[in-house]
Amino acid sequence: MVQQESERRALSCIIDRHGRDTNRLLSILRDVQSEFGHVSGFARHTIAEQMGLDETRIRGVVEFYSFLSSRPTGKFDVRISDSITDHMAGSREIAELLRRKLDVGLGETRNDGRVGVTLTSCTGMCDQGPAALVNGHAITRLSAARIDLIAKLIEDDVALDAWPAELFAVEDNIRLKDMLLGTPVQPGASLDRALALDRKLISTEIELSQLRGRGGAGFNTAAKWRYCAQSSEESVGYPTGRLDPYVVCNADEGEPGTFKDRVLLQTYSDQVFEGMTVCAYLIGAKQGFVYLRGEYLYLHSRLEGVLAERRRRGLLGKNILGRKGFDFDIEIRQGAGAYICGEESALIESLEGKRGVPRNRPPYPVTHGYLGKPTVVNNVETFFAAAAIALHGGEWFAAVGTEKSKGTKLLSVCGDCARPGIYEYPFGVTIARILEDCGAKSTLGIQIGGPSGTFISDKEFDRKLAYEDLATGGSFIVFDRTRDVVEIARNFTHFFAHESCGFCTPCRVGTALLKNLLDKIGDGHGAAGDLAELSRLGRFVRSASHCGLGQTAANPILNTLERYPEIYQARLKTIDFEPGFDLDGALAVARRLADRDDANAHLSQS
Ligand SMILES: Cc1cc2nc3c(=O)[nH]c(=O)nc-3n(C[C@H](O)[C@H](O)[C@H](O)COP(=O)(O)O)c2cc1C
Ligand code: SF4
Repeated sequence: MVQQESERRALSCIIDRHGRDTNRLLSILRDVQSEFGHVSGFARHTIAEQMGLDETRIRGVVEFYSFLSSRPTGKFDVRISDSITDHMAGSREIAELLRRKLDVGLGETRNDGRVGVTLTSCTGMCDQGPAALVNGHAITRLSAARIDLIAKLIEDDVALDAWPAELFAVEDNIRLKDMLLGTPVQPGASLDRALALDRKLISTEIELSQLRGRGGAGFNTAAKWRYCAQSSEESVGYPTGRLDPYVVCNADEGEPGTFKDRVLLQTYSDQVFEGMTVCAYLIGAKQGFVYLRGEYLYLHSRLEGVLAERRRRGLLGKNILGRKGFDFDIEIRQGAGAYICGEESALIESLEGKRGVPRNRPPYPVTHGYLGKPTVVNNVETFFAAAAIALHGGEWFAAVGTEKSKGTKLLSVCGDCARPGIYEYPFGVTIARILEDCGAKSTLGIQIGGPSGTFISDKEFDRKLAYEDLATGGSFIVFDRTRDVVEIARNFTHFFAHESCGFCTPCRVGTALLKNLLDKIGDGHGAAGDLAELSRLGRFVRSASHCGLGQTAANPILNTLERYPEIYQARLKTIDFEPGFDLDGALAVARRLADRDDANAHLSQS
């Protein structure tokens, strides 16, 4: 009873800290998880009661996000990154080593509640894996020596903030700078110019630059900002009054193999915030959000520091740079481990404290976004580039690149290469040039744009990075000839099956079926019919799914099946039908009990 009373008080403090705002439910639950190691039934009930919410909504949110749990996760919650590049760097062996040292099953919490070890989707440290999160904080370059140290710190019950700081070092690994990384904008410089020109002129600069969104889809940024501003202006006569627009920076960066936004936020966040503020000036927004993926918790306080400094310098807050009525501020909202929240409408749902389920589109966020108001959602790199364009002009930017892809693109290069890291290239660069720069040898193929993108083979290295040819959000994973394409497709397919939000049947069931079928083939039980089924099912999931996740989930399978049919064929056990379930194997125990192992006691399944 006394304990419940003190828990109730602690919960009230957390709720108060977030202004009892139901839109901040995810932040509240994150704090509860961090303080109590889980969100208990009592916590759910108390939050529901105090915030006037339905308890089922709270349960639904807890169940949706990987970093929230209704059962205790262990005082030290260790999550090892399960991305393909971490595997290539030895994450499975590392997980097994840690698990054995701590005497805990993978995916379990130890009986004494001290520690839990589990796997998690890509943590965005692909250039310095294998990586893990301990109580949400990233640790990279895991080795046997680091595992020894971590296990000892956990057994000795050393508080996380007393662990050696070098364990938590995250490197930038910037390998190649061009027009953007090479000439960063000084804080306030783009805003100065934007305020010196009138709104129309600065929006013409963005238009002239032909900047396209860097999150993957490549939508024209000037058009997005214009639609949002128009939508807000048209609402002036509404009975509810003008709908104030919002600016949202999508820093969810969950696509395996992508980490360029992490580096921008770590080292160039001032310029990202500057781009958001220029956007706010153009569309008339007063409030902005950075939706920061849960895995980048280590960036949170650093970003808060940069925001505080910008407020101090008059670059955020009221009457920015002395311009009367130009009021804008930015709040950081942290995700909680759900790849789907990178999809802009799911992101907005999450910002509103809900499960990250993609909305029906149209209407699009530019007219019906956060709280139903006009909202610009742009990628971190888009705002970063927009700040430079506001300062240097649209023509400066558009002079670089190709006809339909202007400027430069940041790539997160990782996998089998000597120099993984961030590379900035003018659009139109060939794949061969990138491979040479990053020191890739004997390359089998490349996954461009992450699992949802395209796999290209060694016959395609003269292709170009550009919307006209190979579009990418920034992920560039190199695989050499020692790698197995079926295993690569398998890792990506498991990722999608795990990350499907479950809202629509073609994706929820389809990704699970694709995973099972590929497991069957990968484990050597495949038959020719399975390949045809894989392809048929993949095309169905692509065409029938509700959002981009389902529509791209079969890409790894379809791309590799098309390019390497002989590798898949070679993995088949038989060209006849082979059931997914090994009935004869399952009856082995019964045969042993009956003491029979003659031919008649075995079942033929062909
Ligand atoms: C499953 C899924 C995940 C996505 N993840 C991200 C992401 O992490 N970051 C991002 O900027 N865009 C992501 N997007 C694209 C966004 O929906 C949206 O197009 C983008 O944020 C718009 O910004 P941009 O125009 O600057 O590219 C994702 C889309 C889908 C379908
Ligand atoms: S396609 Fe997948 S992720 Fe998208 S809404 Fe459907 S179930 Fe959710």
